[in-house]
Amino acid sequence: MLNLLGLPLEASTHAGELDHMLVLVHWLMLVLFVGWGAFFLFVLVRFRKGANPKADYTGAHGKMAKGVELGVVLAEVVLLFAYAIPAWAVRVQAFPAESEATVVRVIAEQFAWNVHYAGPDGRFGRTEITRVAADNPIGLDRTDPAAKDDIVSPNQLNLPVNKPVLVHLTSKDVIHSFGLYEMRVKQDAIPGLDIPVWFIPNRIGEYEITCSQLCGLGHYRMRGFLNIQSAADFQSFIDTEVQALTAQ
Ligand code: CUA
Repeated sequence: MLNLLGLPLEASTHAGELDHMLVLVHWLMLVLFVGWGAFFLFVLVRFRKGANPKADYTGAHGKMAKGVELGVVLAEVVLLFAYAIPAWAVRVQAFPAESEATVVRVIAEQFAWNVHYAGPDGRFGRTEITRVAADNPIGLDRTDPAAKDDIVSPNQLNLPVNKPVLVHLTSKDVIHSFGLYEMRVKQDAIPGLDIPVWFIPNRIGEYEITCSQLCGLGHYRMRGFLNIQSAADFQSFIDTEVQALTAQ
């Protein structure tokens, strides 16, 4: 699913802004590329050996160079301060309140994405590395009252549409990178760190979680699924998972 620019579908509220920035940067690069190319050709002809039999050690002096350099600097300053830094500041500072967001933990490992939901009580149960086992990938302590209704969903991240999402991202082993292309989200998952990531999905659909950091032999198959659902469908996903827990 690609849009007109050949980019992935835009499925989060900040995706359009990011793509706009990308387009502006490419316009600047196009101008620089064509400009430098033309200048190069001009220099090849103007300073050819036939026209300059004697070397000139003082070189050529033009007034235009300064103006062009200033123009490029100005364009880059505008891109940085008017677009990039404000967009970045929103990502790293304007986090939604936990009470108004869908809060999930995502724990990366070689080679899977483990998704941890707090369940109906809204509290994440305790996890301990010593409890990690084949059937307990995040080491959840089910004896903890807060953990009783917790949902662990390997490689499947379901989220409701049009509601802020707050992901607490970490890794069990090595550095991975949590890549949600349609959400325009990419963040390294680092062992020992809990890194918050937020976005607002605004398009129902089935997408992928891709690992975007070479993390071992199975990096290529470290793929999860992201399902953006209606609020009702998301609720029924949670209900089904909780029912499956109590049936055990
Ligand atoms: Cu995990 Cu690449």
